[in-house]
Amino acid sequence: MKQLQLTREEERIFDGEMGEAQKIAIRLLSSLGDLGEADRLIPIKSAHISGVSYKNVGEGGIQFLRKISHRVSVPTSLNPLGFDIENGGPVDIDENFHTKQMEIVEIYKKMGVMDSFTCTPYYYYNEPKFGDHISWAESSAIIYVNSLIGARTNRESGPSALASAIIGKTPDHGLHRDDGRKASVVVGVKEPLDYTRFAALGLYLGPKLNRKIPIVKGQKKAKDIDLKAFSAALSATSSIPMFHVDGVTRETELVSDSPEEMSVGKEEIDETIGKNSAQQEPELIAIGCPHLSSEELDYIAKLVKGKKKIGPDLYLFTSREVKANSRAAVKEIEDFGGKVFSDTCMVVSPLSNKYGSTGTNSGKATFYLPLKGYGNQKVAFMGIMDLLRWVIA
Ligand code: F3S
Repeated sequence: MKQLQLTREEERIFDGEMGEAQKIAIRLLSSLGDLGEADRLIPIKSAHISGVSYKNVGEGGIQFLRKISHRVSVPTSLNPLGFDIENGGPVDIDENFHTKQMEIVEIYKKMGVMDSFTCTPYYYYNEPKFGDHISWAESSAIIYVNSLIGARTNRESGPSALASAIIGKTPDHGLHRDDGRKASVVVGVKEPLDYTRFAALGLYLGPKLNRKIPIVKGQKKAKDIDLKAFSAALSATSSIPMFHVDGVTRETELVSDSPEEMSVGKEEIDETIGKNSAQQEPELIAIGCPHLSSEELDYIAKLVKGKKKIGPDLYLFTSREVKANSRAAVKEIEDFGGKVFSDTCMVVSPLSNKYGSTGTNSGKATFYLPLKGYGNQKVAFMGIMDLLRWVIA
């Protein structure tokens, strides 16, 4: 078994000569490197940190953050938190939640972390390039940047991505190397898939593949947003860090010598959607998991423009930058009666403070929202047109 070799400078950090925070950070990376059989730490171009909402971080997490608080050494973006800082919502929160959440935000800000508060930082804040070694947490973003951009990150946790952000390095193993990026299952899908059906494919494949990287064949027309839906659902239901799509993604030559083969048809996709949809009208329609792009906001704005709103609340989630760059679309949606939130999301905000049932087109939210401690929601999973039927007169 390989042992991680530290440079002289890294050893001094390890021994605590640069202070407690850096010592904790490099020791964490060193342990992960040993587990992954890395022989060295390699420099990274950026980091992205999850574990921001007080709902997930809790008191123990705040104590860890206080201990490890140190300026980051590479551009570092941050996942959504429990509420929209500038506009409030999506649901009322108590004073304790607000105070603790803002303490977490202040600790990160002091460390020099960007106030991006999004799981799609690759649209504006933190845009990795092909071949960049990075250290990212947030499963939906990890799988997206590995697969669609060709940047290289393992599935980091919030603490390990933060440790890398402080040290500026990550252990060289797994997805940082060609071998760790190879597909070991060929998945044939004949039926052309749209956003929702790609999300359903992710929900279906995740538990079946568990850790195996798939190469999907038969989907040469897949768009980035469809694969964003697939990314989030597949990574929520498995520990898969990457996928390839024949004719679409950039590293499809990385396939192991004798991959397994499987095929997925219309029946499996229909069954996955059917199993998760509900006929009863939900109290809330929530769209934007992962956070919406400008293109998606424009699409929804066109669908609701000039229409009369009825029925459940309609909440959309995106980042501050996307929202600021999509003013016209946001205005159309708000004129219709919907609300567009930034900084937060349907899963990390305490939705159950107000709602008991939610309709969404997100495979990831469909997986998380029913769970106790995440949302306690009854979920209706369906395409955007079906969701909007509940709110357009
Ligand atoms: Fe993003 Fe929240 Fe979904 S962090 S992927 S919108 S659960």
